[in-house]
Amino acid sequence: MSSSDSHQTWGGRFSEGPDARVAAFTESVSFDARLAAHDIRGSIAHARMLSAVGVLTPDEFGQIEAGLAAIGERIAGGDFAWDPALEDVHMNIESRLTDDIGALGKKLHTARSRNDQVATDIRLWLRDAIDALLGEVRRLRGALIDVAEREADTIMPGFTHMQVAQPVTFGHHMLAWQAMLARDSERLGELRARVNRLPLGAAALAGTTFPIDREMVARELGFDSVIDNSLDAVSDRDFAIEFVSAASLIMTHLSRYSEELVLWMSPAFGFVDLPDRYCTGSSIMPQKKNPDVAEIVRGKTARVNGHLVALLTLMKGQPLAYNRDNQEDKEPIFDTVDTLLNCVALYADMMPHVTVHADACRDAARKGFSTATDLADYLVRKGVAFRDAHEIVGKSVQHAIAAGCDLADLDLATLKGFSTVIEDDVYDVLTLEGSVAARNHIGGTAPDQVRAAVARSRARLAD
Ligand code: ARG
Repeated sequence: MSSSDSHQTWGGRFSEGPDARVAAFTESVSFDARLAAHDIRGSIAHARMLSAVGVLTPDEFGQIEAGLAAIGERIAGGDFAWDPALEDVHMNIESRLTDDIGALGKKLHTARSRNDQVATDIRLWLRDAIDALLGEVRRLRGALIDVAEREADTIMPGFTHMQVAQPVTFGHHMLAWQAMLARDSERLGELRARVNRLPLGAAALAGTTFPIDREMVARELGFDSVIDNSLDAVSDRDFAIEFVSAASLIMTHLSRYSEELVLWMSPAFGFVDLPDRYCTGSSIMPQKKNPDVAEIVRGKTARVNGHLVALLTLMKGQPLAYNRDNQEDKEPIFDTVDTLLNCVALYADMMPHVTVHADACRDAARKGFSTATDLADYLVRKGVAFRDAHEIVGKSVQHAIAAGCDLADLDLATLKGFSTVIEDDVYDVLTLEGSVAARNHIGGTAPDQVRAAVARSRARLAD
């Protein structure tokens, strides 16, 4: 825009328009146009309220509503020219309304400010985004529960310190992933309640001199309540920080799954395989099939964590009330939602197609002396104190390592050499199946417990 024109919507006290670089620097319509549908919803609710309290006539409201609805349709159809000289989504829409319906359009902004308007728009937008995300998280949880059911009897090594620890079932492992996401859903639901409060009516910062009815606007827009303090309503973005924090946790969970899938798909493990369509190749090594989806999800966790730090840092130095700094909240929020929806949806699509190589999983569990704790528990049941049992089993493992075999491969005479209480029935506890089946309590890895947990998880998913 030329520097001799003063600004269309706020230029009254200015003798020149913004410098070109300033205009480009301060505009936000290049990214906040995404708020258009919510901005229009909010404006219609505001105008309806203004007519209900007598600030606009019903006829004026009718024209404003029809004008805004027509603009909404044009935007949805991609038939709207956004003008960066008008700064943001709010002024683009308002200015177009005035072009379309005449001077009446200038009355829409009565009793509000862009400060409460933008806070309202983001909350409406984020509420929809949370609902979409909850749907995708639910789909992924459903997929994990299905894999858990399918693999309830499949034995794999459970790890601590990345060392084979005790055998677990693959289904049990999938339900651990699902449990993390169940808490994520819970968290999203809880913070949604704090997102879903109405700032509109706070106006610039102190409220307005018009007899507004905030409860009416809240009802129309589906907000649970109005935000009590006008200074707080326009300025805080804690609701967005909470959301991005919950989003970072979801990504952290996905990142951990990704790490495991990458390891499990490595030929050194060979526990799982993914269909070719979920993998990519190497431009130099013809044999490679890489789990890039998992790696990129792990990588994208970094950017969402970055957005969390960005928003926290954005808020920390701001005095009350609104400051333009807050314009910088949008891109982190938008990108967080885009990234999450993408990653969660991809995982929900992909998980049903993971092939589990039960033999490789079983072999790995067999190799790592994973039933050593079961042998110790066996000795305890025969009257040996646990610390002594630990020592006896440690010696047996040392022997097996030297002999290059598993505990279950040691004959009875050898085992008796370590403890005379050992009898033939020891081989029942040294088997992998015996080991997992014995952990038969709520939360344990026994296949029957996994099936019961699958049923409980499905029931929770349904309500
Ligand atoms: N684009 C601005 C934002 O995102 C809208 C609010 C601007 N308010 C103001 N008084 N300049 O925060």
